[in-house]
Amino acid sequence: MVLASTENKIKKDLKICCIGAGYVGGPTMAMIAKQCPDIHVHVVDLNQERINRWNSHDLPVYEPGLDEVVREARGRNLRFSTQVDQAIAESDIVFIAVNTPTKSFGVGAGRAANLEFVEKCARQIAAVSKGHKIIVEKSTLPVRTAEAVKRILLNSTKEATFDVLSNPEFLAEGTAVADLLNPDRILIGGESDEAVETLASVYSRWVSRDRILTTNLWSSELSKLTANAFLAQRVSSINAISALCEATGADVDEVARAIGTDSRIGPKFLKSSVGFGGSCFQKDILNLVYLCEHFGLKEVAHYWEQVVVMNDYQKRRFSERIVRTMFNTVSDKKIAVLGFAFKKDTNDTRESAAIHVCRSLLDERAKLRIYDPRVPEEQIRAELLASFADPMGSVSEKHKQLVASNVTVLPSAYEAANQSHGIAILTEWDEFKTLDRTRLLESMLRPAFVFDGRSVLNREDWRNDGFEVHTIGKS
Ligand code: UDX
Ligand code: UDX
Repeated sequence: MVLASTENKIKKDLKICCIGAGYVGGPTMAMIAKQCPDIHVHVVDLNQERINRWNSHDLPVYEPGLDEVVREARGRNLRFSTQVDQAIAESDIVFIAVNTPTKSFGVGAGRAANLEFVEKCARQIAAVSKGHKIIVEKSTLPVRTAEAVKRILLNSTKEATFDVLSNPEFLAEGTAVADLLNPDRILIGGESDEAVETLASVYSRWVSRDRILTTNLWSSELSKLTANAFLAQRVSSINAISALCEATGADVDEVARAIGTDSRIGPKFLKSSVGFGGSCFQKDILNLVYLCEHFGLKEVAHYWEQVVVMNDYQKRRFSERIVRTMFNTVSDKKIAVLGFAFKKDTNDTRESAAIHVCRSLLDERAKLRIYDPRVPEEQIRAELLASFADPMGSVSEKHKQLVASNVTVLPSAYEAANQSHGIAILTEWDEFKTLDRTRLLESMLRPAFVFDGRSVLNREDWRNDGFEVHTIGKS
């Protein structure tokens, strides 16, 4: 590997480009641009519509506080465009933040990460680069992907030299701005000290040096997968206990509080739920499982796979509880679904537990009345249709018809609950905690069932007002 030029370290007019203007690339680059007014940041994407929205008042990613960050930097030192070649050619540092979904075909289908887009980026970078560039893996990738990226880069051009760094992003959706502003740590893995220092000097404008960790490339790549696996494992662990709580009369929130005060365990990420979702946890664990299998570590693969197995069980268990409680049939019954995003404060629905619960209820022929404060109707319908797709991605006419006739998307929780047999809370949006119970009860059929999949409601208050409340992790 050719060493980075020391010029970069002191370079004042550093130019950064990021390929991929998604949930990770967009907010991360906006924060770098906001904090470093002298650095030019150019975010590019193949998707023209997404770029148009980054250039408008209606950003494609909903994150509290993101509008202000973008507004401050856009037009000053932050650009969004589809001019991928030009952006790469002009930059000193190129971030790769394209998506790396689970492969849906061929070898490793259902487990391995699809690295097609990352490889295409590497080839495109090689094709248009001259001089020296630092290439940064921002996307979450299997261990040793940097090796492949390096080989593609070095073998594809003689006109440029490259350093490849791994710099995984740990932001969580819904709190992206706060996480980017005040990260627990920045992780940079790489072989060239100069390149690592150049990237570290960008973050050090607002992150203290003791929070910038440097490791070798492979440790950095693996740390990201491991962090997500551990976080997801905590959720699956508490969700496993929630099933036992429901069976025994213990209360999962009380158990979480009791164990969370042990400083060795800690209180965070112990909230029982209808199951974890999001674009990362499942994908990254399956990726880890695939890697372990690849290296012949069967027991390790099996161990981590159980985190996903438990999550699937939790989603299934919740919809089955609804059906069982509602006299073993929800056919033709109206169920208000409150929340469709995979967590609060985001418009992201990828792998949302709500999709699985809704699909199961549709299989039972329930009439769903869905409300989410941030997710548009087209997106809800597209996710539900996709949940019925076969491995080739096609949806039968029968299922299209089912989604068309049994799903209504409504503009408020009250309209969703109107004339319904029950309410299912699937995302913990704050507004659900302060719903007007009298108004809801008056419009619902009796018994007025409430299934709280996020344990956000005060059960006593709701029960006293006449609802029949069933909460995750409580009997
Ligand atoms: C990120 C990470 O980068 C991924 O590895 C991680 O595991 C999940 O989070 P995210 O930002 O959430 O992905 O993905 P997404 O919102 O889908 O954004 C990716 C963007 O890359 C899309 O806008 C897509 O159009 C763009 N893209 C994809 C390109 O510009 N070029 C490509 O070749 C492929
Ligand atoms: C996660 C990681 O937290 C982040 O560091 C990484 O960069 C990307 O993946 P994200 O998926 O955006 O972030 O959200 P996160 O807050 O981790 O929540 C993931 C899922 O777990 C959500 O569905 C959430 O509702 C669920 N969850 C989380 C629980 O059910 N209980 C908890 O206690 C915490």
